[in-house]
Amino acid sequence: MEWFFCKTKEEGGKKTAEYIRNEVNKNPSLNLCIPTGSTPVICFKEMVKMYEDKRLDLSCAYMYNMDEYVGMSKDHQEGYYRFLNQHLYSKTNTDMSRTFAPDAVATDMQAECERYTKEFYQNGVMDVIYLGIGTDGHIAFNMPKEVHCLDTHIENLSDDTVAANAQFFDGKDEVPKDAISIGIGMILKSKRIVLNAFGKSKAEVIKRLYEEKAVDPYLPATFLNLHDDVTIIVDEEASSLIDR
Ligand code: PGA
Repeated sequence: MEWFFCKTKEEGGKKTAEYIRNEVNKNPSLNLCIPTGSTPVICFKEMVKMYEDKRLDLSCAYMYNMDEYVGMSKDHQEGYYRFLNQHLYSKTNTDMSRTFAPDAVATDMQAECERYTKEFYQNGVMDVIYLGIGTDGHIAFNMPKEVHCLDTHIENLSDDTVAANAQFFDGKDEVPKDAISIGIGMILKSKRIVLNAFGKSKAEVIKRLYEEKAVDPYLPATFLNLHDDVTIIVDEEASSLIDR
């Protein structure tokens, strides 16, 4: 893992946007899997700025959602596809016919999981997966637990995750309890991985990730120790408990 310690989240978001821009410049029709949540919004803002300054062209890129709450349609107010559309796709020249997400209202969710895994690889392996991290160490929606799925699957969200995501809903009770998510195997098969963690609430989990040199299924981000091209970009608050 290569760590970058930035002073502010804005600096971290900028560095991440530069990382993505470099990848797009190398291969304009790359496969890119992107996260939702409060963290990536900072990088997305930079990407929009780059697009407006004619420094980023997403017109040929293939964009993939990594997860979605079960029961949320693509146009649902709190849904993740709509979130990416609102913060990135609609503000850049992303070609909507090249954007993909699991169908979280499918009648047969098991079949949908299998379909999305296939769609995820329709143009070859993922070039870059951009991840956030939960306070419980989850990546995409792979929650801490003993056994992990490799491919797209349904996850029961941890109490920590439901509590953290309540900010986007009218309270904790409104947060869906299940999500459809890409699996750990799909993350590890990506050629490159970049992860962001910003803010004090991530300090504890970032300290654990920094110190853990093994794979701990109860800290899913430690699966990234198995990959040889992982870049972690954190701000001063998120890295405040690390002893370096
Ligand atoms: P956040 O979520 O960016 O809203 O902190 C991170 C995550 O759950 O991956």
